Parts: sequence; C-alpha cells; structure tokens
Amino acid sequence: MASPPDTSKTIKLERYNSYLRRLNSNKLFKASSKILSRATVLVAVILILFFVLNGGDSHNFHTHTNFLSSNILFGDAAWVKQVRDSAMPRGTNGMSILVTGAAGFIGAHCSLALKKRGDGVLGLDNFNDYYDPSLKRARQELLSQHEVFIVEGDLNDAALLKKLFDLVPFTHILHLAAQAGVRYAMQNPQSYVASNIAGFVNLLEVSKEVNPQPSIVWASSSSVYGLNTENPFSELHRTDQPASLYAATKKAGEEIAHTYNHIYGLSLTGLRFFTVYGPYGRPDMAYFFFTKDILNGNTIEVYQTQEGNEVARDFTYIDDVVKGCLGALDTAEKSTGSGGIKQGPAQLRVYNLGNTSPVPVGKLVTILEGLLNVKAKKHVIKMPRNGDVPFTHANVSLANRDFGYKPTTDLATGLRKFVKWYVGYYGVHLGVKKENHVAKTKEKKSGDSA
Ligand SMILES: NC(=O)c1ccc[n+]([C@@H]2O[C@H](COP(=O)([O-])OP(=O)(O)OC[C@H]3O[C@@H](n4cnc5c(N)ncnc54)[C@H](O)[C@@H]3O)[C@@H](O)[C@H]2O)c1
Repeated sequence: MASPPDTSKTIKLERYNSYLRRLNSNKLFKASSKILSRATVLVAVILILFFVLNGGDSHNFHTHTNFLSSNILFGDAAWVKQVRDSAMPRGTNGMSILVTGAAGFIGAHCSLALKKRGDGVLGLDNFNDYYDPSLKRARQELLSQHEVFIVEGDLNDAALLKKLFDLVPFTHILHLAAQAGVRYAMQNPQSYVASNIAGFVNLLEVSKEVNPQPSIVWASSSSVYGLNTENPFSELHRTDQPASLYAATKKAGEEIAHTYNHIYGLSLTGLRFFTVYGPYGRPDMAYFFFTKDILNGNTIEVYQTQEGNEVARDFTYIDDVVKGCLGALDTAEKSTGSGGIKQGPAQLRVYNLGNTSPVPVGKLVTILEGLLNVKAKKHVIKMPRNGDVPFTHANVSLANRDFGYKPTTDLATGLRKFVKWYVGYYGVHLGVKKENHVAKTKEKKSGDSA
C-alpha cells in the first residue's frame, strides 16, 4: 500500500511566504501613510501661506474662504480668466468697470446696459439674504448669459479688492453695494455701518492706492433730505437732518466722498436715487410687496402722514435710473491722484436722479388694482416713526444740465412693465386664484426711499 505524500514541507513553505507577504504589506502601508501625512503637512503649509499672503485676518475669514474656494475648487487660472474676460471692453475706447452690488436690483440692470454697449463689466456682490437671495441668483444667471461675471465677495475684503485691481486696471467703479432699506435699520443697525460706511471706506482705501486711480460713481439716496421741507428737493437743500440710520449712513458716505476727493484726488460722483422700481426689483419695497399681498388677498397697510395727508413718492423707473448712471459714468473726469498722493483738484459731484412727479401711495395701489384685476384690501394707518419720510420730489435740473438726464416713464407705464415681469417670474395667472404663485420673500419691509 502506498504511503500518503509528505505535505508538511509545502505547508511550512506556504506559511513562511504568507508571513513575508504580511510583512511587506505592513511596510508598504507604513511607507504610504508617511507619504500621505507629509503631503497633508505640505498642503496645510501652502494654505497657511496663501492666507497670510492674502492678509487673512479673522474679520475677513468668511469672504476669504469664498475667495479661496473659488480659486482652488474652480482653478486659479479659470477664475482669473473669467475676471479678465468679463472686465474686458469690446472696443478700444470702452470703459472697464467694477460694479459693486451687481446682483442687486439697480446693479444688475446697469451691468447689463454697460455690457450691451461694449464696456467691460466685472460684478462684485456678497449675495446676502436681506431679501430672497434666489432673486439675486436669477439676476446673476441673467448677467452670466451676457458674459458678465460676478465675483462673490464682500466690500470689506481688502485683499480681494486688491487682487481684482491687480488683475484689471479698472477705469471706473459703479459702487451700488449697500445695505438698503429704511425700516430694517431699526432691526439690524450694524449691517448699515458695516456695508455703507466701513465697506465704502475700504473700497476708497483700495481705490486711492491703485495706479491709475478709477473714477467712482456711487449710490447715495434721496433719503438724505430727511426732514427737509423745501420742495422739490434740490442738491442745494440741507441734508443734515436724516430721519433714519440708513439715511445717516448715506449722508456719511457723501462726507467721506468729500474727504477722499480732497486728500487723494479721487473723482467721485454721488447719485441720490428716488424710489426706484421695475422688473427684477426689490421685494422689500412697497410696490413689490403690495403686488404680492394684493394677489394673495392679504390686507395692505397704506400710510397717512401724522396730519392725515397722503404719503407720496417720486417713483422712478429703472430704465431712467440706468440712463442716469451711464450719463454720470460717461461724464466722470479722471481721478488725479497717483500712488495715494493727490496731484491736483479732482471732480466731486452729487446729483438727484428722480422722476420729478410725486405720486400718492393710494394712487399706486389703484394702478396696481387695475393691472392685477384684483381689489386691494386696504388698511389706512398713520405712518409709524420708523424712518420713512412723508414726501419725496426730485429737482433733476443739475443732472439734466450735466448729462442730459430726463426721465420719460410715468408710474402707470412702469408698473405695467413691472407686473408683466412679476407674473412671468412667479408664474402667476392673473384673474385666476392660484396657490403656488407666492413670491418667496421675507416679510421685511423697507421704506420706499431706500
Ligand atoms: N432702489 C431704490 O429705490 C434706491 C433708492 C435710493 C438709493 N438706493 C441705493 O442704490 C444702491 C442699489 O440699490 P438696490 O435697490 O439695487 O439694492 P439691492 O439690495 O438690490 O442691491 C444691493 C446689492 O449689494 C449687495 N451688498 C450689500 N452689502 C454688500 C457688501 N458688504 N459687499 C458686497 N455686496 C454687498 C447685496 O447683496 C445686493 O445684491 C444701494 O446703494 C441703495 O442704497 C436704492
């Protein structure tokens, strides 16, 4: 009988081989984790260096993160190309303009108009949620279809602003970014100081240093007239009695503009807008939330003055305001400073941009009722002391003289265009009650001169 084959040697050999394999894979594992940990340290060092070089203090952390992520996630070169392409004018004579607040109501309309006529436009906006940010995203989408890129960042991010000026020698800034709204200033006063004062100063600090310095056109407000009782409001009237913190920050902006013009030779033009309305408008303004409330069958509050008179506004249609902004940009002289040093006197201007015909708020409601085919439920109340003023009326002869500003849209015509946009944007079918047409706006309500 044949004896069974001796397998003990083979088994031993296999055990030895498997021991060797385990040993090697352990070594391999240790070696690769060493490489991995070294790579992690290297990436961390690069990131820290990047923060330090971009002046990343804790105050700016949020916006630096955005800036970093747009560079790293989307590729530095691609981001730089988007910035440069967007800011590049079509012809040799075009301007290159940084539009702050480009995702906002007036900023989006101005950016489009500038781009369409051949100027280079780069937007900057922090997309804050003061009102429904999806409306800001919709404006951004509209602008991107016209090759306008909006950098997502804050006015207070000096490193980001410097970086943008490193990439593009902007000839002009149209500075529209601000915390708007009169009534919200009682809820969140610090946001007005941060954007309208600190943010404006930051922008001016960067602008004064660059070479060449840009010419700056920026948004002040009719609200600076505050308790002024002379009518119509002229640029010569007193503006030292603001009725809201919002108005006070805009007035402060005008004084700050004077200082930077005086010391550094920056060319500065302030525009006092009067209750601007139109498509893609602001949901916190009365014409907008009245439309929403009337359609939803909600009661609207219509203000009266303490004396029982109707509150009236010089409602100005967006297209007229855009023409005014472009006129101001086209007539802005060059700044005179260089490397932070003034070389000679520079232009300093302030203009009213209104419609020159105030309309009582009751009439606004009647026009909306006609356009929406719905009777409004009105509750007439005395105007609370929340920063609103009873009456605004612009004298625009100065803007007319200097750049031919002439508003041409009456309230009925402008509101028709607004309602047409509103029903299309929110999918409302007029005359038929629908459940899902409600604009997703927050219930913050601003005054109407903001
Ligand atoms: N609409 C009006 O009736 C009216 C009237 C008077 C003055 N203004 C002024 O005109 C300008 C534009 O107003 P609008 O109606 O288009 O308002 P808006 O709120 O629609 O636009 C302002 C934009 O600025 C952005 N922004 C705010 N703070 C910022 C910051 N710190 N950094 C970067 N972006 C920031 C916001 O996200 C917003 O998109 C504002 O300065 C406003 O105060 C408007």
